[in-house]
Amino acid sequence: MNVLIIRQLCRSFREGVRVHRVLDQADARVAGGEAVAVIGRSGSGKSTLLNLISGIDRADSGTVEIDGRDVTALIEPQRTLFRRARIGFVYQFFNLLPTLDVEENVRLALELNGVRGAEARQRSAAMLTEVGLGDRLHGAVDALSGGEQQRVAIARAITRARGATLLVVTHDEALARSADRVLELRDGQLHEAADSHSSGRRAAAR
Ligand SMILES: Nc1ncnc2c1ncn2[C@@H]1O[C@H](COP(=O)(O)OP(=O)(O)O)[C@@H](O)[C@H]1O
Ligand SMILES: [Mg+2]
Repeated sequence: MNVLIIRQLCRSFREGVRVHRVLDQADARVAGGEAVAVIGRSGSGKSTLLNLISGIDRADSGTVEIDGRDVTALIEPQRTLFRRARIGFVYQFFNLLPTLDVEENVRLALELNGVRGAEARQRSAAMLTEVGLGDRLHGAVDALSGGEQQRVAIARAITRARGATLLVVTHDEALARSADRVLELRDGQLHEAADSHSSGRRAAAR
């Protein structure tokens, strides 16, 4: 079942006298539990897309449906409430705690939500293994690359919600490779990347 359906999404910005069509009838579907990486060169509209999906910005036309709900049709405060309840964000600065190791950074999020002891340890390790950091559990977060830190932040964000659907904008090739699918934003539209489906956690589990 698709939990995210993007239909004919358009968003333009005025630049002086000309109009820049950043999203030009973009379409995409993401299934529940799927991990999708969005790639695209700088200025291709990745942030614009995420802002529309999360309801921070409004589309000129087209729709974004999340769990069967057209979020483009929601007005405030429903839009903000829906976003808070249903969407988790990982920002570009990951806010990892340098005094804790990689596994402790993820475990802290669990402990703050009442998951403790062996279960918290096991779940944080499993989540980190899933994002390809199983061999870095007790390393320092400062020693990780930017892409690796992004993966720790993602593990931390989704570890509480098993089966979360993940849409991640990344330049980290390892992270993109570990996704189920890669969508490239180009000329205002989302294109399935050529080698998509070839790897990813779902394929790896088969
Ligand atoms: N609020 C805005 N006003 C005017 N132009 C914008 C605005 N937000 C984004 N843009 C333009 O839209 C294009 C895509 O930006 P963005 O979505 O940030 O790309 P990316 O995240 O892929 O680097 C850029 O040309 C940018 O200048
Ligand atoms: Mg951006």
